[in-house]
Formats: sequence, C-alpha cells, structure tokens
Amino acid sequence: MKVEFGNMGILEHGKDNKPLSLKVLQFLLLFLGLGIALSILSMCMLRFAELKNVLPVVQSRINPCFQQQNSLENWIRPLSNLHHSMNDAELFWRASFVPQMKKLPFKRTPKIAFLFLTRGSLPLAPLWERFFKGNEELYSIYIHNLPSYKPDFPTSSVFYGRQIPSQVAEWGDISITDAERRLLANALLDISNEWFIILSESCIPLHNFSVIYRYISESRYSFVSVFDDPRSVGRGRYNWKMSPVVKITQWRKGSQWFEVNRKLAVDIVTDEVYYPKFKQFCKPSCYVDEHYFPTMLHIQSPHLLTNTSLTWVDWHRGGAHPATFGKADVTDKFLKQLSEGQRTCVYNNQTTSYCLLFARKFSPSALDPLLKLSSKYLGF
Ligand SMILES: *[C@@H]1O[C@H](CO)[C@@H](O)[C@H](O)[C@H]1NC(C)=O
Ligand SMILES: *[C@@H]1O[C@H](CO)[C@@H](O)[C@H](O)[C@H]1NC(C)=O
Ligand SMILES: *[C@@H]1O[C@H](CO)[C@@H](O)[C@H](O)[C@H]1NC(C)=O
Repeated sequence: MKVEFGNMGILEHGKDNKPLSLKVLQFLLLFLGLGIALSILSMCMLRFAELKNVLPVVQSRINPCFQQQNSLENWIRPLSNLHHSMNDAELFWRASFVPQMKKLPFKRTPKIAFLFLTRGSLPLAPLWERFFKGNEELYSIYIHNLPSYKPDFPTSSVFYGRQIPSQVAEWGDISITDAERRLLANALLDISNEWFIILSESCIPLHNFSVIYRYISESRYSFVSVFDDPRSVGRGRYNWKMSPVVKITQWRKGSQWFEVNRKLAVDIVTDEVYYPKFKQFCKPSCYVDEHYFPTMLHIQSPHLLTNTSLTWVDWHRGGAHPATFGKADVTDKFLKQLSEGQRTCVYNNQTTSYCLLFARKFSPSALDPLLKLSSKYLGF
C-alpha cells in the first residue's frame, strides 16, 4: 500500500508538468534510440564498403542493409578476409564440397592459386609483385607462415592480408604436409581457383605471368614429380606396416613443390586412406613430405600426372640440401640459361623446350640482381 501511495503521488504531480524521473527516462530513451540508429547505420556502411571492395559494379547498386544476401553471390564470392575460426577437420570438410553440375550458371575465370609455404617473411616479394602486376583477375595468393610471425606488408602489396590461419610446421614431419593441405583447403574455398602451386620463400618465377598461366592452364596433366627410387633414400624408407594400403611397388618419391588441379587438390584434402598410414609409419628418417603426395597421387590418379616438377633446383653440389643462390650467382649467363632451359621435355604429348616455370633456392641477397635482370631474361 505504501508503494502505491508513493506512485500516485508522482503521477498526481505531473498533469501539465511532467515529473522529473519521467523526463530523465524520456531523455535516456531518446539517447538509446539514437545510439541504435547510429550503430545500424555504421554497420550498413561497413558492410557496404566490404561489398564494394569485392564486387564494385554489381554490388554498389543494391541496398546493402535491407536486402538479404541470399543470392548466388554468397556461394561464389571469394572471402574478402582469409581469417576464420575453423580447425583443420572443419576446414577440410568445408573444402571438400564439390559442385555436381558441369554447366555453370555464372561466368567463372579460372585462377591460379599461388600457395607460399614459408617460415616468415618473403624476401623476394618485390620480384613477385612485379611478376603479378596487371594479372589481378587470374591469380590468388595464400601464405602459410609460423604463427608467431607477424607480417608487415603494406596495404598496397599483393601479399597484404593473404596469410591463412597457420600452425607450426617442421620439415620432414607430418606437420609440413598438414600445412600444405591447409593451404590447399583455404584456396579451395574460392571456387574460382582451378590450379594450385606450392612455392617457398626462396622460389622465383622464370617467365612472365602470361607464359606461366598458359602453360599451366592448357596442360592436360598436373605437374607432380613422381619417381620410384630403388635406393635406401627411396624404397628404403618404406615401412611394411603400410601394406596393403600402400604396397612397396606403389611407394614413390618426389618433391613437395608441386602443381595440382582442383580435382587433385580436393583428393589431397579429403584423403582419409593414405594420410593416416603416413602419419603413423613415415617418420624420420622417412621424410614424409618427399613421399606422401607423390605416393597417394600415383596410386589414385597416375594418368593425371606429368611425373615431373615445374620447379628447378640444383642438387649438383651434393649433400642433404640443394644449392642456394646468392648475389654473386645471379649473373646474365646464369639467368639466361635458367630461363631458356637446357633440355627438352614432353608437354601435352609433344616435345618442347619450356620445361620449368619456377626455380629455387634464392637467398635474400639475390633480390637486387634479380630485379635488375628480370625484364631482360625472365620477361617481366
Ligand atoms: C611474355 O613472354 C612471352 C615470351 O617471352 C612474350 O611473347 C609475351 O609478349 C610476354 N607477355 C607480356 C604480357 O609481357
Ligand atoms: C606418369 O606416370 C604414370 C604411371 O607410371 C603414367 O600412367 C602416366 O602416363 C605418366 N604421365 C605422363 C604424362 O607420361
Ligand atoms: C599421351 O601420352 C600418354 C603417356 O605416354 C598416353 O597414355 C596418352 O594416351 C597420350 N594422350 C594422347 C591424347 O595422345
């Protein structure tokens, strides 16, 4: 009763002159409303900016806030931001989605995904920037680096914001194949990526973009180095416990710097048969990155592979690691020889002198001479 009286007292008071507490309440509500309106507006503008970034022509016409984005664009638009919170199991599952219809209801320009498997920085980035320039419709870039590394590419760089959620990867260990599968899976999320190349921070392109795009896009086969090495560093690394899933006659060696098309990329990401065997039975001195991809691709799709790599490397100096080229090595003669190629090979069942598209390993000091000579010998 006491409470009611109190209330009545207030109401009585405000016939023509509103009580103070109601005024305060009105005032607060007004502010709240304004705040909500402002935040909706800013959300719309953010969304709008995001859409404009990706699809400048189509999207700028629509009202971004009030139109539901349940259009085809949702399914074919590449992610503007490569960050996501999926773990590998979730990511690989998502990446395994494959359309079942061959005919596309939209125009698709197939792209090459350049997948950089690195520890940290890309010292040869300025050379790559020059290589990519003017071909924005035809490529995409993904970078896997140590999670502790904080990239500092300027916003104008083609490498800006292209880092995928990464984990520690050790050479010769299953974690390095995980990193490569992670790169492939992230790149598969963009439906326009058709070819996938794994590169390292010490790789350089040996031709201009149009030569490389044509070479890869018109090839009937994927470029994966696959061979049967009878020595202890080949078959000697085979573990009989892998049988019968992997027989010794199927055991292959090769290089992890491969190029695969979309079908093979999906096969790699979705592999639940061979991967567990390699994870369990191929440990140093079985170097899993030299055997897993060549062996599983050789077993599943031998007819889709060239069995050779596109990436040149020099093993002639001997030892466990290939030669690294620095400032003094990058001369006119050296680059001329590299780009012209000193041999012939088979391309779509015909001989050609174009055999290699990339080369490694180049140290950061090679950047200066490379930039000086690239337009003369590499065509960009
Ligand atoms: C790329 O290189 C090829 C062969 O050297 C040349 O014919 C072509 O004009 C070059 N393309 C561009 C865009 O520079
Ligand atoms: C690669 O090797 C496989 C298996 O030995 C073979 O079927 C395939 O034809 C080879 N690829 C080419 C382009 O010769
Ligand atoms: C190309 O060569 C491979 C291996 O030598 C052979 O299996 C295939 O039938 C050939 N394809 C064409 C179109 O000639």
